[in-house]
Amino acid sequence: MATYGHGDTTWFTHDRFGMFIHWGLYSMPARHEWIRNYEQISNEDYQIYFDLFNPDMFCPKEWAKAAREAGMKYFVITTKHHEGFCLWDSKYTDYKAPNTPAGRDLLREVVDAFRAEGLHVGFYYSLIDWHHPDFTLDHIHPMRNKVNPEEFNKGRNLKRYAKYMRDQVTELLTNYGKIDILWFDFSYPGENGKGRDQWESEKLIKLVRKLQPNIIVDNRLDLPGSGDIVTPEQFTPDSCMVDENGKPLVWEGCQTFSGSWGYHRDEASWKTPKMCIEMLINHVSRGGNLLMNVGPTSRGYLDSRAMDRLGAFAAWMKYHSRSIYGCGLAPKGLVAPPDCRYTYNAERNCLYLHLFAWPFKHVHLNGLGDKIKYAQLLADGSEIRYRVNSKGDALNSASPENAATLELPILLPAACGEVPVIEIFLK
Ligand code: GLC
Repeated sequence: MATYGHGDTTWFTHDRFGMFIHWGLYSMPARHEWIRNYEQISNEDYQIYFDLFNPDMFCPKEWAKAAREAGMKYFVITTKHHEGFCLWDSKYTDYKAPNTPAGRDLLREVVDAFRAEGLHVGFYYSLIDWHHPDFTLDHIHPMRNKVNPEEFNKGRNLKRYAKYMRDQVTELLTNYGKIDILWFDFSYPGENGKGRDQWESEKLIKLVRKLQPNIIVDNRLDLPGSGDIVTPEQFTPDSCMVDENGKPLVWEGCQTFSGSWGYHRDEASWKTPKMCIEMLINHVSRGGNLLMNVGPTSRGYLDSRAMDRLGAFAAWMKYHSRSIYGCGLAPKGLVAPPDCRYTYNAERNCLYLHLFAWPFKHVHLNGLGDKIKYAQLLADGSEIRYRVNSKGDALNSASPENAATLELPILLPAACGEVPVIEIFLK
């Protein structure tokens, strides 16, 4: 398999937790970022959102602060989504924020604000572009049922579109300093679809690696060997993702608070704070990262539903980030008890036991019988006592062979929050 170089994923697999930001004209209809596809909206009918886009409450410093407080260490923002609208001042199109009532390069302000909070910078760039005059009809195009394909495609030239993408990617990777992640989205090869041949993926990846040699690129160019990370979306893999030979991959799950990526006013399936925190733990315990999405409103702020959940992350991460940063899969062979997840920091030789349901009054840790040096509740650093190979009696349960039995308090200190964690120093 051809390879196209590799980015630097060392910081990435350490940091584990990032913010995805989907922001574009679709925040105005507020009915999903795929609205042009779902409702089959023409360029003409979509124009009203461009003409009136006016994020008067746009304050990327607040987004960045909320992300940093939530424990997020990097972010990825939609510089352009499938609708084709560009947040930055691109030379190659008029369909960009500076030409709306917003009147300026919004991307630059976001990048500056997040850098100032110490986060790594990532750009999402849509391969799909439903607005571009050279983008041809296909089976997901908004106009798929409304036009005569031959007439629609007449004069459209995908080669010119591929060049447009390279020009724009060049802007993004030269005018904003060091960019840590580039997130292309997405390919749907096959009949009436688009993939590496249409995107000219090979030229694109070579350009990216040349402009930013350390950058991390996702795996959606339809070009084997071009990506650094795999990107499951809207579900959590139930174990570490591996390649054909069983070797662990660098993976990042991207998830929404509710079903939509762009701001959706009426969408109601918002995950609870506990589900969000469990999601983060699940990703890390299976050796992955979590890229947690927010969709700012068209006025430019994060609504209270998003802020609530970011606040929940902040409250929990304040006391528990040690079980996330620098952590990943537990040592081979260790299986967490029911309702529990392990993460492991190899450098510190610490195992973290996350209890999604708080048991009364013991938990048995198989395989750890003679391996524990010390255990404590992570939230307040208070000792957790344990016994090994105890037979049990009328008052105490026995520990299974080779297990350590932790003795748990009935009630938990408030700092434990949604998910208590026990930090276990291994011998
Ligand atoms: C999908 C969607 C898109 C979203 C992305 C995030 O591929 O097309 O709307 O941006 O997933 O992973």
